[in-house]
Amino acid sequence: MQLTFYGHSCFSITINGKKLLFDPFITQNQLASAININDIEADYILLSHGHSDHVADVEAIAKRTNATIIAAYEVAMWFAAKGIEKYHPMNIGGKKTFDFGTIKVVNAIHSSSLPDGSYGGNPLGFIIINEESNFYYAGDTALTLDMQLIPMFAQIDFAILPIGDNFTMGIVDAIQAAKMVQTKMVIGVHYDTFGIIKIDHQKAIELFIKNELELKLPVIGETIII
Ligand code: NI
Ligand code: MN
Repeated sequence: MQLTFYGHSCFSITINGKKLLFDPFITQNQLASAININDIEADYILLSHGHSDHVADVEAIAKRTNATIIAAYEVAMWFAAKGIEKYHPMNIGGKKTFDFGTIKVVNAIHSSSLPDGSYGGNPLGFIIINEESNFYYAGDTALTLDMQLIPMFAQIDFAILPIGDNFTMGIVDAIQAAKMVQTKMVIGVHYDTFGIIKIDHQKAIELFIKNELELKLPVIGETIII
């Protein structure tokens, strides 16, 4: 499975020939200035919540690619009102099978409003289930005991977790989250973008190794094989 990292919490994964783009925040991310959003293809755009550091480039990419937005009902309807025609609203606890695989929506402990202040419903986490590889994208969240439910829903091959602290889990809590969801491999997101979420990469990687876990920190624009 191929994962391309576009900075902050934005990444793209191709599953069964379909391109899934998560939480696009590129044009407003100074660290991602080398990425041109017009080069990004997407069949689906999955949104964990409505904060601008997760949705800033949704409208432009969705309108150009005609991708289907998958998001909380409130977030999906906000984009529908902007003229996005293809959207699929979901909410926590819901499961739905698409042409690339199945999504199970799980709890995230955070907040959610849209860039204009509109109510964004609850923030979401996603489990993506398919024949190639199952994974968990936590979205923006605190460590929560609800993560213990995730192995009941699917065996996870890797988890994409926020590690920048301040707004979400930090490194120490992300290690506990990896243990709860029963995976050995974590791809870190939601760090370094702003001064208050800067992390020490080497220290983070070493702390994961001490816990017999692997932390991958792809550079912006890098594609890794998982
Ligand atoms: Ni947020
Ligand atoms: Mn965020």
